[in-house]
Amino acid sequence: MVTDALEAGIGQFVILGAGFDTRSFRLIAPAGAKAFEVDLPDNIARKQRLLEKRFGQVPRHVTLMATDFETDDLTERLAASGFEPDASSMYVVEAITQYLTQDAAQRLFSFLATAPAASRLIFTYIDQNFLDGRDLDGWESVHRKWSRRTRCGPSASTLRLSASSCAGTTGPNANRSARGTTARGTSKLPDGT
Ligand SMILES: C[S@@+](CC[C@H](N)C(=O)[O-])C[C@H]1O[C@@H](n2cnc3c(N)ncnc32)[C@H](O)[C@@H]1O
Repeated sequence: MVTDALEAGIGQFVILGAGFDTRSFRLIAPAGAKAFEVDLPDNIARKQRLLEKRFGQVPRHVTLMATDFETDDLTERLAASGFEPDASSMYVVEAITQYLTQDAAQRLFSFLATAPAASRLIFTYIDQNFLDGRDLDGWESVHRKWSRRTRCGPSASTLRLSASSCAGTTGPNANRSARGTTARGTSKLPDGT
């Protein structure tokens, strides 16, 4: 999809909750397009260190943006980083909404709704019923695994959640629920298909 967008002439990519996604370095920057990678400050600092170690510096065309969707204004952050709001862009929102509060997820999608014509969106989500452990219908063991792994967020070391802020959590995102949002479409069905 990123390659399709590049071929269609899209020159600006915004990867929200980028984590350690490498498409900016493998596909976007080499094609001469701009990438804005947005994530929490700790993750951005770690990625910057790794990029500097690998390339000597953060590759040209890639801007790392330390931003917290819960508290920061994404529009303002992007504007301050050289993002062109009137240019058609591709937005990548993968495996992130399940970690956001409902308010932050709504703000994120309100921001996306302002994208100019011909912009594109890659979006994955996990159904809220799954996050809440409701109507699992054969997905119980997958949900148990998810709950164990994410009791304190997807990875307490990459997210800013601390052990104390997780205390009392009864399931994934018990205090960070984003209704109606969520996951990759590649999960296996309960029967393993
Ligand atoms: C499961 S990772 C997904 C990374 C990447 N998009 C992928 O699909 O491989 C979720 C990412 O969302 C980021 N994230 C979670 N909460 C966030 C927030 N409030 N603001 C910004 N980024 C956040 C995490 O730091 C992490 O890098």
